Amino acid sequence: MTAPGDFRDTPSPLRAVGEPPVVVAAEGVRKVYEGSGSPVVALNGVDLAVPAGAFYAIMGASGSGKSTLLHVVGGLTRPTDGVVRVEGQDLGAMSDRARTIFRRRRMGIIFQEYNLLPTLTARENVALPVLVDGRPLRDVEARVDELLAVVHLTARADHRPDALSGGEQQRVAIARALLNDPAIILADEPTGNLDSKQSVEIWTLLRRIAREQGKTILMVTHEAQGAGFADRVIVLKDGRIVGTLEPKGAADAALVATGYQELAG
Ligand SMILES: Nc1ncnc2c1ncn2[C@@H]1O[C@H](COP(=O)(O)OP(=O)(O)O)[C@@H](O)[C@H]1O
Ligand SMILES: [Mg+2]
Repeated sequence: MTAPGDFRDTPSPLRAVGEPPVVVAAEGVRKVYEGSGSPVVALNGVDLAVPAGAFYAIMGASGSGKSTLLHVVGGLTRPTDGVVRVEGQDLGAMSDRARTIFRRRRMGIIFQEYNLLPTLTARENVALPVLVDGRPLRDVEARVDELLAVVHLTARADHRPDALSGGEQQRVAIARALLNDPAIILADEPTGNLDSKQSVEIWTLLRRIAREQGKTILMVTHEAQGAGFADRVIVLKDGRIVGTLEPKGAADAALVATGYQELAG
C-alpha cells in the first residue's frame, strides 16, 4: 500500500518536476446502471487528472453523468470498469470499510441540500463528524471556530439552521466538510437552491479555499457563471468528456457559456 503523499502509483507521465501532484486520477471509467429496464450507461470512458490545489468544475446537461462522476471519485459508487485513484490510492482495491474511512479522512462532500441537523447550532453542525465519532466538542472547538471564521459565520455560530439563509447553511456545510482537513472537496450543485448573490458567495468561497488552503475541488454545476470561478471546466456529454475550458480569471462566465454551447450544445 502506498503511503499518503506518495504518488508513485499515480499515472502522470507528463508531470514535470515542480508541478503539483495529481490528486484525483480516473482512467477509463465506465458506469452502467443495471436496473429493471434496459441498462443505463452513465459514464462511458472517462479519463481525468486533477492536480493538487486545483479547482475544477464539471458541466453538462441533466443526465450527462456529472453526479455519477462525482460519486465515483468520492467512492460512493463503484465504477463498472476503470480505476479511480485519490492521492495515489486505488479506491477499487480498498475494502468498503477502508474506503469509508479514507473518504471520511481525506474527502469533504457537499450536496445541493445542506444536510444539516435542524436541532443543532451551526457550531455543532460543523463539529458533527467528530461528535458522531463519540468525541467531545471541546476536542475540536478551536478548529471549529477557525472554520466558522473561514466561512464568515463567526457571528452566527449559535444559530440553528432555520435561523440561517440558504447560503449561510451551505457555508456551514462547507466548514463541516473542511473539519478533518481533507485533501479534496467534492461539491454536487452546491448552489442549486441559492439565489445569484448567495451563489457568487459560495463560488468565491470555494475558490478561496482552493487558493488559501490548497484544497483540490471538484464542483458540479450547470451554471456558466459558477464554472467561471474554476481553473478548468470539464464538459460532459452522454457520459463522456467532450472538452475542457480554461476560464481566464474569476467569473469568466461569457467564455464558459460560449465554449460550453459549442461543446455540449
Ligand atoms: N442509481 C441509478 N440507477 C439507475 N440509473 C441512474 C442512477 N443514477 C443515475 N442514473 C442515470 O444515469 C445517468 C446519469 O445520471 P447523473 O450522473 O445523475 O447525471 P447528472 O448529474 O449529470 O444529471 C442518467 O441517465 C440517470 O438517469
Ligand atoms: Mg446530478
